[in-house]
Amino acid sequence: MNGDFLPINEDQDRTGADNNQLFMVPMVDHGIFEQAKKMAGTVVEYRELRMMYSCAIKEIRTKFDVLNSEFNVRYQRNPIASITSRLKSSASIMEKLSRLDVPFSVENVTEHLHDVAGIRVICYYVDDIYRLAQALAKQDDITVLNFKDYIKNPKPNGYRSYHLIVSVPVFFSDQTRDMKVEVQIRTIAMDFWASLEHQLKYKKEVPDQQEIVDQLTDCATQIAQIDTQMYEIRNRIELAEDEPTEEDLLLEKLRRIDLADE
Ligand code: GTP
Ligand code: MG
Repeated sequence: MNGDFLPINEDQDRTGADNNQLFMVPMVDHGIFEQAKKMAGTVVEYRELRMMYSCAIKEIRTKFDVLNSEFNVRYQRNPIASITSRLKSSASIMEKLSRLDVPFSVENVTEHLHDVAGIRVICYYVDDIYRLAQALAKQDDITVLNFKDYIKNPKPNGYRSYHLIVSVPVFFSDQTRDMKVEVQIRTIAMDFWASLEHQLKYKKEVPDQQEIVDQLTDCATQIAQIDTQMYEIRNRIELAEDEPTEEDLLLEKLRRIDLADE
C-alpha cells in the first residue's frame, strides 16, 4: 500500500509525528523525482543512440550491397558471399566500459567504444577484401578512423581478418550524426576459423589447452594456404578463358541489362 499518497486524515492531530512525516515526504520525493527524470532522460537518449547505430549499420550495409551489385555487372562475379551485422548488447557495452574504467553515460559510449555497430563482410577471395576496403574508404562520406590488417599481420593465435573503424554521417529528421561502425572483412575460410576459435574460447574446462591452441594456430596456417590456392586457381581460370566470340559478347550484354535491375 502506498501510504505516502494517502490524504490527510482530518481526525489526526495536525501537530503530531505523523504530520511531520507527511511534510517530509515532498522533500524526499523531490530528490527521487529529479533522479527519475535524469534516469528517464538517459534511457531515452540511450535508446535513440542505439537506433542511430542501427541506422549507421544500414548505411554501411547498403554501401557494400551497392559495391556487390556493381562488381557483379562489371566483372561477372559477386565478391561478397554474405553480410552479417550486430548491435553490441547493453550488457557488453557496460562490461567494456567498466573494463576501460569509464562510467556509463551516453557520451562515454560514443566517445570510448568503436564497436557498438559492427558489420562483417564475408568474401570468396582475399584480393576482394582489399578491393572492397579501398572502395569503401575512398567514398566521400566515409572517414577511416583506424584500420588493422590481420591478414598481412595475423594475430599470434592465427586470427586473420581486415578491420576498419569508419565514421559515416547518418541523416535524421532534425540532425546529422557521424556514427562509428566497425567493419570486419574476411574470406569464408577466415570466417570459418574465427567462428570455431570463438566458440572454443568459451569452453574453458578443456584439458591440454596449449595443445588445442597449437592445433588451432596450425589450422589457421593451413586455411591461409587454402585461401591463397583458391585465389591462384581463380586467376588461372580467368586467364585461360577463351576470347569471347561476337555472340558471347552480345549474350553477355543482354545478361548485364537484366543484372542491372537487381
Ligand atoms: P575488442 O576490444 O575485443 O573489440 O578488440 P580491439 O578493440 O582490440 O580490436 P580488434 O580489432 O583486435 O578486435 C575486434 C574484433 O575482432 C573482436 O571483437 C572479434 O570480433 C574479432 N577478433 C579479434 N581477435 C580475434 C581472435 O583472436 N579470434 C576471434 N575469433 N575473433 C577475434
Ligand atoms: Mg569488439
